[in-house]
Amino acid sequence: MDRLDGPPRLLLVTDLDCTLVDHDDPENTDLLRFNALWEAHYRHDSLLVYCTGRSMRSYLSLRNKKPLLTPDIAITSVGSEIAHGGESMVSDDVWEARLGEMWSREIVLEETSKFPQLEPQPDKSQEQHKVSFFVGREHALEIMKVLPGRLLERGVDVKLVYSNDYAFDVLPKGSGKGGALTYLLEKLESEGKQPTNILVCGDSGNDAELFNVPQAYGVMVSNSHKELLQWHEENAKDNPKIILASERCGAGMIEALQRFNLGPNVSPRDGLDTENFHVEVLDPANEVVQFYLLYDKWRCGEVEKSDKYLEKLKSLSSPLGMFVHPSGVEKTIHEWIDDLVNLHGEGKEEKFRIWLDRVSTSLISPETWIVKFDKHELSDGKVRSCSTRVLLSCQEEKEKLTWMHIQQSWLDGSCSDDQDKWIF
Ligand code: GLC
Ligand code: MG
Repeated sequence: MDRLDGPPRLLLVTDLDCTLVDHDDPENTDLLRFNALWEAHYRHDSLLVYCTGRSMRSYLSLRNKKPLLTPDIAITSVGSEIAHGGESMVSDDVWEARLGEMWSREIVLEETSKFPQLEPQPDKSQEQHKVSFFVGREHALEIMKVLPGRLLERGVDVKLVYSNDYAFDVLPKGSGKGGALTYLLEKLESEGKQPTNILVCGDSGNDAELFNVPQAYGVMVSNSHKELLQWHEENAKDNPKIILASERCGAGMIEALQRFNLGPNVSPRDGLDTENFHVEVLDPANEVVQFYLLYDKWRCGEVEKSDKYLEKLKSLSSPLGMFVHPSGVEKTIHEWIDDLVNLHGEGKEEKFRIWLDRVSTSLISPETWIVKFDKHELSDGKVRSCSTRVLLSCQEEKEKLTWMHIQQSWLDGSCSDDQDKWIF
């Protein structure tokens, strides 16, 4: 949250499985559309919060499999853990201490063991403040009637959350996704950073509480589980700030940005103007995202093999501008662009994709910006990543940005066994 000096324009809180992440789409089309939109138009002044039933470990393993952006905050284990701060993820001790009040794992285990229908979830899904089971709906409803009372008699105050017709979570009373979000909002308010807008996005039972946060807009993606739709019908039907999207997963989230008028809602992946990049004048983050998208489309053969695209890329940069390859090799940006000729369309078979993460822009002189970001490239199922800096300068009557310098270094042990195929 410290990344922003002032209040976020949008606090976007999203569930992962079957909301931002569509497990039925191995190409991650809508996730990549969302990513490009977020980095081009929201990253600089908004906050991205992931809010998942997964434990931190399980969330991190999902990040290794899917092109997920780095969030500002991760709420994991159905709201029972909160971690702040992008890559370095520092867990929120205040929240953890708060959840310790009127909670005892041991007593929860003892009392729940009296219900033979409750089948414990694997150890990896159990956390200090989350005890989880598998159980069918009918039994779950019966248990929900009696368990809280029995625990309260023993000094333990719980919240029970039932999801997807099989998952049953026992959590400290103030916890859950809604409790965690309310806590974050209080924290933001105390720092004078109350968000202008909040959008929550979900698909199943453990997301219902998010839609109860009074100030929030909410979108239930079109593939939402019937239990969430039923919850909505019974509890929030008349709230115009909550909608059921007509599109699934990430596409439904983008739809919500548009329907609630929360800001830009055309992903650069859809609206890429391959002929003209300067529509949005002097918008360095957006220009960098668009540059890489055109490069992505070139590699995948999604634009025809025509010199005009390479000329387009060249026209963005100074003829003297250098690109320092992560291997250390230096050539002018124009020379590297010439090398792209042989790479047209060769990424198609390899399911080549590029996405940028953590794009940040700083103005270092009245006419010069540095844009920093992590560039990730997927090819043949393997992801390679580079920390990237681009120096952009504004020339010619302040109408256009010129790329002066690009420099990269490998991230996370990435390196290229095929150096010729890594350009920019
Ligand atoms: C995730 C968690 C699981 C939990 C479920 C519902 O699938 O892994 O432990 O029960 O979400 O909240
Ligand atoms: Mg989900």
